[in-house]
Amino acid sequence: MRVLVTGGAGFIGSHFAKRLASAGNDVVVLDKLTYSGNPANLAGAKVELVEADICDPAAVAAAGKGCEAVVNFAAETHVDRSIHGASEFIETDVLGTYVLLDWARENGTRLVQVSTDEVYGDVPEGSSSCEVDPLRPSSPYSASKAGGDLQVIAAVRTYGVDACITRGSNTYGPNQYPEKIIPLFVTNALDREPLPLYGDGRQTRDWLHVEDHCAAVELVLRKGASGEIYNVGGGEEVENRDLTRTILELTGADESLVRHVVDRPGHDRRYSVDASKLRGLGWEPARALADGLPETVAWYRDNRDWWEPIKSGDYRAYYEKQYSERLG
Ligand code: NAD
Ligand code: DAU
Repeated sequence: MRVLVTGGAGFIGSHFAKRLASAGNDVVVLDKLTYSGNPANLAGAKVELVEADICDPAAVAAAGKGCEAVVNFAAETHVDRSIHGASEFIETDVLGTYVLLDWARENGTRLVQVSTDEVYGDVPEGSSSCEVDPLRPSSPYSASKAGGDLQVIAAVRTYGVDACITRGSNTYGPNQYPEKIIPLFVTNALDREPLPLYGDGRQTRDWLHVEDHCAAVELVLRKGASGEIYNVGGGEEVENRDLTRTILELTGADESLVRHVVDRPGHDRRYSVDASKLRGLGWEPARALADGLPETVAWYRDNRDWWEPIKSGDYRAYYEKQYSERLG
């Protein structure tokens, strides 16, 4: 199969592109190479990399020529950045999705939209979000992703586009840009830098290994029914303060590195998805956090040449903006 993987130089997209390519598929990666897109994530992979924007219809048509499917990972993805300003989020996550849908409609191409559990907003203790639940996004990021999802649903219904949506939970593993909690706290702990824990640190996230996330997206690409939405959850709900404690243990760092800082505005307390619909298609997570987290910490310990250049570049300006007041 020849597949267009948009956003395939980012964290999850690069694992997905490598997964498809190593199984013998033809893979074209279209990526704008924003701050989180990194060709090094695709090192050694047999994929064609096209530097372009999903909002550019001509570039999408050129890169997608001959592809039977498009899997869209391209997005602005960080909640904290969206709180500083959301225009790029709305452009890529909504308009970009629309451009891909338009191209898929014209060419009869199948599309998988990689979305997020954040579109449901936070859920009270004891309950889980189902695919039919209303969308209640809390951040500019999740509102943009919800906008993209709604464009997909409308394109299926109005034009008969062959498309599915996946809604994954918090994903971790190698090659994740060090702005999200796990790679940020692991790399800071390795350097004995402070770990800025928002609020009371009792927010809960459901952790999913990147390879399990990619397996789920591939299954939906191959077997998902058009118009259907599939939740993807690791089933590993952990409070941030407990995750932080485990990271300290795994890096041999001291608890004194933890700083309780001013909370994220609009911070969702808990996400939890019911993934039984996808499990019905034959998916289940293969990697427990108890194994995946130590492996991930080891990867960051052994791959400083991947993250040190990132943390010393434009990243510094973002870090100052986000954390200098918080950390005093
Ligand atoms: P990431 O930020 O690591 O990667 C995003 C990629 O998209 C980058 O390579 C970037 O260069 C590219 N990109 C951004 N704007 C683009 C544009 N206009 N045109 C082309 N490429 C563009 O993000 P990620 O964590 O790998 O997330 C991938 C997808 O999975 C996103 O859609 C995200 O919403 C979704 N998701 C992420 C998680 C998570 O925990 N990381 C969980 C569930 C869903
Ligand atoms: O749930 C899926 C989503 O998970 C994806 O759609 C997003 O792209 C991805 O960024 C992630 O969103 P979160 O906001 O949950 O991830 P983040 O790593 O930013 O934060 C995880 C938790 O850790 C959250 O409760 C906020 C907290 N946190 C985060 C950072 C960056 C801190 O306490 N301190 C921090 O410095």
